[in-house]
Amino acid sequence: MSIPYQEMKDNFFNEEELKIVNNHLKKYPHKMAATLPVLWMIQDKYGWISKDAMRYVAGLLDVPPDHVYGVVTFYTMYNEKPVGKVHLQICTNVSCMLNGAYDIFHYISDKLKIKNKETTTDGIFTIEEVECLGSCGTAPMMQVNNREYHENLSLDKIDTLLDELKSKHI
Ligand code: FES
Repeated sequence: MSIPYQEMKDNFFNEEELKIVNNHLKKYPHKMAATLPVLWMIQDKYGWISKDAMRYVAGLLDVPPDHVYGVVTFYTMYNEKPVGKVHLQICTNVSCMLNGAYDIFHYISDKLKIKNKETTTDGIFTIEEVECLGSCGTAPMMQVNNREYHENLSLDKIDTLLDELKSKHI
C-alpha cells in the first residue's frame, strides 16, 4: 500500500534538503524541469528510487506521477531497485569495449556470481553495464557509487581493486 503524500513528506527530504529543492525550482520556469535533479537527490540519499519516492517527487513538483515514472525508467542512471554498497558501473561503449571492457565485465560477473544489474547475496556488490562515462582516453574504466572513476583497468588489477572497494565501503 502506498504512503499518503503528507506522511511521506518528512521521510524523503528533511528541511535542508527541501531548501535545496527550492533552489533547483528557482532555476527553471516550470517545476517539471526540476524533475531530474530532484530525482538525483532522492537517489543520492537512498541509493535508489522507489515507487513511493516517485509519487513524493510528483507531489513536490506538481507533476503527474506517470511523468516521474517515465523519467526514472527512461534514464539508466536512475536505480529502480536497491543496489549494493559497492555499485560497479562498467562502461562497455566503443573505446572501453575495444580495450577489453567485456573481459573485465565477465570476469567480475563470474567472480561475484552475479549478472548485469544483480546484487550479491550479501548486499555488497552490484554490477551494471553502462554506456560511455566520458573517460574514453583512459579506457577501459568503471565508475563506483556514482563518484569514483577507476581507469586503465586490466584483469590483473580486478581482484585487488574489489578487495579494496569492499574494505573501503563496508
Ligand atoms: S567508451 Fe568508456 S568511457 Fe567512453
